[in-house]
Amino acid sequence: MTKTTDPKKIDPCTLVLFGASGNLSRVKLMPSLFRLDAAGRLPEQMAILSVGRGEVTREAWLADIKGMLDAKFKKGYDQTVFERFIARNHYHANAPTDADAFTKMKANLADEKVFPQNLAYFLSVRPVDFAPVVEQLSGVGLLDETNHWRRVVIEKPFGTDLASAQALQASITKHLKESQIYRIDHYLGKSALQNIMLQRFTNTLLEPIWNKDFIDHVQITNTEMLGVGERTQFYDSTGALRDMIQSHILQTMALTAMELPKDLSPDSIRAEKIKVLEAIRPIPVADLKHNAFRAQYATGEVQGEKVPGYLEELGDKTSVVETYAALKLFVDNPRWQGVPFYIRTAKRLHDADTRISIRFKKSALQLAGGTEQNWLMLGIQPRECIKMEIQSKIPGLDIKTRTIQMDAANRQDGDESIDAYEALLLNLMEGDNSLYLHISEVEAQWRLVDPVVKAWAVDKAPVCQYPAGSADPETSKVIFEHEDQFWRYSIELGGDKH
Ligand code: BG6
Repeated sequence: MTKTTDPKKIDPCTLVLFGASGNLSRVKLMPSLFRLDAAGRLPEQMAILSVGRGEVTREAWLADIKGMLDAKFKKGYDQTVFERFIARNHYHANAPTDADAFTKMKANLADEKVFPQNLAYFLSVRPVDFAPVVEQLSGVGLLDETNHWRRVVIEKPFGTDLASAQALQASITKHLKESQIYRIDHYLGKSALQNIMLQRFTNTLLEPIWNKDFIDHVQITNTEMLGVGERTQFYDSTGALRDMIQSHILQTMALTAMELPKDLSPDSIRAEKIKVLEAIRPIPVADLKHNAFRAQYATGEVQGEKVPGYLEELGDKTSVVETYAALKLFVDNPRWQGVPFYIRTAKRLHDADTRISIRFKKSALQLAGGTEQNWLMLGIQPRECIKMEIQSKIPGLDIKTRTIQMDAANRQDGDESIDAYEALLLNLMEGDNSLYLHISEVEAQWRLVDPVVKAWAVDKAPVCQYPAGSADPETSKVIFEHEDQFWRYSIELGGDKH
């Protein structure tokens, strides 16, 4: 199954990058655009107009870009590509105090020799500025599609709850059609996420057992060794549930649980994801403690280094905001009836590991002392792999089995290693929004997590603490349906033992 794009088939276009001097642009967007250029994936006529608050000359901005590339590509890069890339770049100052800033931007963009007239706006700005920027663009006619296309990328988060997401949607759809809106969840740009659907549906081996008849439970987990870093204020107004579960983890779950789309068109894939997200049973708030769990990291040690706890970093001992969040979910459809999906995310755990772990039901033959259940695991990061644990006879005189692991790398030596943003930016220019979120997905995701976020916000009882660098808190066991179920500790052999 293949889908590749000929850069000649991409319309000449200009990418207008709002928030160009911010961290996302420096660390991800500019380097990704450069790599796309180096790989020959950008159309010949393609310009980048960086928009920032500061008055910066083009020369100074180009020098700044060079600094971004030097920092990212420490081993150096091709000079010819660099010169081609740098020639595409321009700068426009949009001082917040300047009432005519957008009119000036329009005048600037009108120079057709420099700027191809199909325009993609990437809003890497504060979420409160998404709607005002769209309104301003519309006000000066920069969203008018009469002769050329106009697309707008909205970074995460799209709202902070269902009501604010709907309000944002209402204000931007005054000026944009759904097909012009590209809502980011950067996990969808990861090759390993795209592989979930492909591995499931292109393998006859997997699809028939991917349901309630064979599966005992599913775990979808993302753990990080990193803490919240310098983002304490942002994080304390967000929490793990909104930061990771509402977006990345629920998308991973949708790809794990969805039905086969009727084809690979963006609409068909998204339709199946929406269906499954909407089939997730609302979390019973009346019995929250058996369905949702939160915790905060305390002082501890990560990779031999002592690190402070979340509350110390924040400087506020009263915060109940979680750095560890877990939910038990059920999908009410024929494929999944009764199968628990345990999903979790955590900062400062013992391991950085994103994976899907599926435990199968007990086998027909149970040897004395019990027989281990099969696991199938899809590693997302750091290793992209598929692993299967099966029972096998220990050679010798006795009838005894042990667990062996079949381990295959999805990524092989010499395979391209691309950043999620490369795929997302390329799709944006192609006009393919399958790797972006539809508003219905965003709404379904908020609808699911909102009641938990609200209940947790008003419950000021001290939150369970786990030492930084440790494994899952034992108390998270309360959300599991059965005594013999718990978080799989690692993807390695024996990783289900505690
Ligand atoms: C971001 C979250 O969306 O995703 C961060 O805001 C998180 O808190 C990050 O660390 C994880 O992304 P990745 O690609 O490093 O797994």
